[in-house]
Parts: sequence; C-alpha cells; structure tokens
Amino acid sequence: MPIALGIETSCDDTSVSLVTDKGEVLFLKNQSQDETHKKYGGIVPELASRNHGYHLLPMIEEALKVVPEEQINVVGVTNRPGLLGSLLVGCVTAKTLGMIWNKPIVGVNHIEAHIFSSYLWSQKSQKTFKTIKFPSLALVVSGGHSSLFYVRDIGDSLLLGSTLDDAAGEALDKFAKLLGFSWPGGPHIDSCSQKSNSQNNALFSKIKTEGLSFSFSGVKSAGYRLLSDKSKEWIQENLPEICASYQKVIIEHLMDKLKKAFDKYSSDRILIGGGVSANTYLKSQIEKWTETSQIECFYPEKIYCTDNAAMVAFTGLHYFLKGKVSDLNLSCVPRHLEKDFFSP
Ligand code: KG4
Ligand code: ZN
Repeated sequence: MPIALGIETSCDDTSVSLVTDKGEVLFLKNQSQDETHKKYGGIVPELASRNHGYHLLPMIEEALKVVPEEQINVVGVTNRPGLLGSLLVGCVTAKTLGMIWNKPIVGVNHIEAHIFSSYLWSQKSQKTFKTIKFPSLALVVSGGHSSLFYVRDIGDSLLLGSTLDDAAGEALDKFAKLLGFSWPGGPHIDSCSQKSNSQNNALFSKIKTEGLSFSFSGVKSAGYRLLSDKSKEWIQENLPEICASYQKVIIEHLMDKLKKAFDKYSSDRILIGGGVSANTYLKSQIEKWTETSQIECFYPEKIYCTDNAAMVAFTGLHYFLKGKVSDLNLSCVPRHLEKDFFSP
C-alpha cells in the first residue's frame, strides 16, 4: 500500500499527514496559528514562518510513530502558491527528509491539493474510497482563491475562471471584521446567518460578471457602505439578516458560475474544495441543485475543507504513482511568478 508523508506550510497553519493512495488518512495533525494572528486581524508573514519552524519537526516525529519512515514512499510538500517564508520552511524540511531518507519528493500546488480533498477519508469517517474519475469539474473557494477548473487528470486541469479581485473567503473575512467578529470571519458569518428568520435577506444586490470569472470587491464595498450608514444599534439588531444577505450574494455568485461551467463542460462529477466549502448555505444550495439531476457532487469532510497536509500527501502520492517527482532543486514559486499551474 503506497503511503505519502504530506507537509503543508503555505500560509498560517502547520500540518503534517500520512495518506494512502486510496485517500485513507492514517495520521493528520494541524497546528493552527489563529491565536497568534487574531490580534493583528490578518496573517503576519514573519510570525507565520517562525511558527512553522517551531512546530513542524515535532509533528513529523509524531507521524513517524504511526508509520515508520521505511513504509513511506514519497514526501509531498506544498511549494506554491503561498507566503514565501512559510513555503520555504516546508520545502527545506521536505528536501532534507528526501535527502536523508533517500526518498522522492513532490512539490504540490496547494490549489490542486484542495481539488482532490474530497477523496480523503479516515476510519472515523462515514465514507470510504471512491475511485477517482475524470473529467471532473472543480470549484476551489478559500481565503486566497476562488477558481473553477475542468480537471482532466492529476496535473492536467484547465483553469476556467477565477476571481478578478478578492477571493470569496477574503470578502467574508473582511466584512466579518467590520462587524466585529474575530478572524477568520467566514465561519462566524455562516453561523450568524443561520439565526436569520428572514426568507428574503436582500440587503445586497446580485453580483454580475462576464463569463466564468468571479468578483467580490463590489459586494465588499457595498458591505462597507451599508455599515457606515447605519447606527451600531441597528447593526446589532439586524446582525443575522446582514450576515445572511451578504453570504447569500457571495454563495449565489459561486453557484451561478458553477452552473454555467457545468452547462459548458460536460462532467458527471463535481469536486468542491477550500475553506469556504465548509459553508452551510453553499452546501444547501449545491444539494438543492444536484438533487434533481444526475450530478455527483463531492465535498470534503469539514477537517479537509480548510488547509491540511492530507490533501497535499494524497496529491503528491498520485503524482509519484504517475512517475512525476521533483528534484532537490524544488523551489517555492511566488504566486505572481507562477506560470506552470500544476506540474511538480
Ligand atoms: O482553504 P483555507 O483554509 O485557506 C486558504 O487557502 O485560504 O480557507 C480559509 C477560508 C477563510 O476565508 C475562512 O473564513 C473560510 O475559509 N471559511 C468559511 C467557513 N469555514 C472557513 N467561509 C464560510 N463559511 C464557513 N463555514
Ligand atoms: Zn487553502
């Protein structure tokens, strides 16, 4: 049974995992840095990389108690996109392990890893392995990305559309901050929206963009304008409706583009990934849509929605099984320099 060790340090969460080729997660440990960054209202890159350096090796030692090094076939590591200092900690560690263990390493694109996160499961899950099928349509929505892909194979995805400005998660987090929620605000907006009694929730107008591109900066500005016009008392009294209205336009925009992509690119499987895929309203909208059709929609379990090393291990392992590995020159590619989307 092929097994990969995965390392994820692209942003603020340190994560280490061991995963089989069938997506079974044998070990997963995440070290959140939310407490460190909370007081700044966003991620401080220097603190993030220092924390990765502090946490990563003890987490790997813990993983090796579950599966010894001799049984690990490959080390998968996120090498792009992300914060450069943070990525470097993971990459240098993976290269060192590759060298001392004499094992291959694979540089994994974090967004591609999110695409395949819905194939992950563990002994505690309700689900088990589902055969990977291509082509699939994928929607990745997180704090840094909102993109649609036509996935032809591992390492072969066509980018259909992405955001022209902010990511969906970013728009949720920034508005949540204005409302006084702690960071990251997406889950707070989600749970506060559930207290709304209104069926209507129409404080914001529908987002419109051309083609399959997303845009969230307009609703973010509309959110700012709405709050600057209103008293603190009004905001507190109407908080669930404000959250539900804001969330609604964002999720409906994602749904519009997903449906449009589906009409254009035939695929019977849809893969959803990224932190925002944990959103209750998004899930309910997708369920409503897929209920009346033959579309099979795969969601990650909640722990695999947000950043985690299990998705990196799984994706890296499938590259390895196809004979595609990186060498020790593996570099961390800053996002703006990234040309080759998915190959390692
Ligand atoms: O994938 P992720 O962990 O990190 C990035 O790669 O960005 O996604 C984090 C994002 C944050 O913006 C967070 O607010 C959002 O996912 N998020 C949610 C929910 N849970 C996490 N957004 C809406 N509803 C949720 N339940
Ligand atoms: Zn992510």
